[in-house]
Amino acid sequence: MIVAIDGPAGAGKGTLARRLAREFNLAYLDTGALYRAVGLRVLEMGADPADPASATHAARTLDVSGLDSPRLRDEDAADAASKVAAIPAVRAALLDFQRNFAKNPPSPCTGAVLDGRDIGTVVCPDAPLKIFVTASLEERARRRTLELQDKGIDAIQDRVLADMIARDERDRDRKTAPLAAANDAIVLDTTEMNADAVFDRAAALFRSRTGRIAD
Ligand code: DC
Repeated sequence: MIVAIDGPAGAGKGTLARRLAREFNLAYLDTGALYRAVGLRVLEMGADPADPASATHAARTLDVSGLDSPRLRDEDAADAASKVAAIPAVRAALLDFQRNFAKNPPSPCTGAVLDGRDIGTVVCPDAPLKIFVTASLEERARRRTLELQDKGIDAIQDRVLADMIARDERDRDRKTAPLAAANDAIVLDTTEMNADAVFDRAAALFRSRTGRIAD
């Protein structure tokens, strides 16, 4: 069973994906972390994340063992991620790893949940369950600001909002695998939903698609 979760930044994809993974014994891949890791490596090399040669080199030689590093959650990593993600050769370099993870989830998991921007459209177009999670721009910026403040970062909502608009535009307007809901995705607008309500709705969809009940 493969669950594809896509949507813009701050919509609640990660929270939902992690919870589905725990509940249904699925392996979880945060594909944004791959792009963040590539972006960060380019910054650490002292290069420009928008430079195709540097970004492609970083993607082709990426070490996927450090994907849970807290440094990847920083806003400069997010910004660099969205720039490297617009480069077709970077996306191509990361595709096999994502597809392989989805098809051969690490044991003892019986399936996989991947979240990102193009999971339902490009990475796993045959996934039996695709969810596109979205929320209003203001709500997403509010959530992201609180998340940063919780981590002790002095975030200002107007600044977070401006960064989010720039990142949304880059993710939506790029030519290769732009942020988009697959035709067969179920769209969940979480603007007025809390995390429990989002999870309950997605879990009901999962159960009805698989005929499974939670362990
Ligand atoms: O989900 P996130 O905020 O960690 O993603 C960081 C950036 O990576 C995002 O701005 C766009 C890019 N990304 C992508 O292009 N495709 C994916 N499947 C996942 C993320």
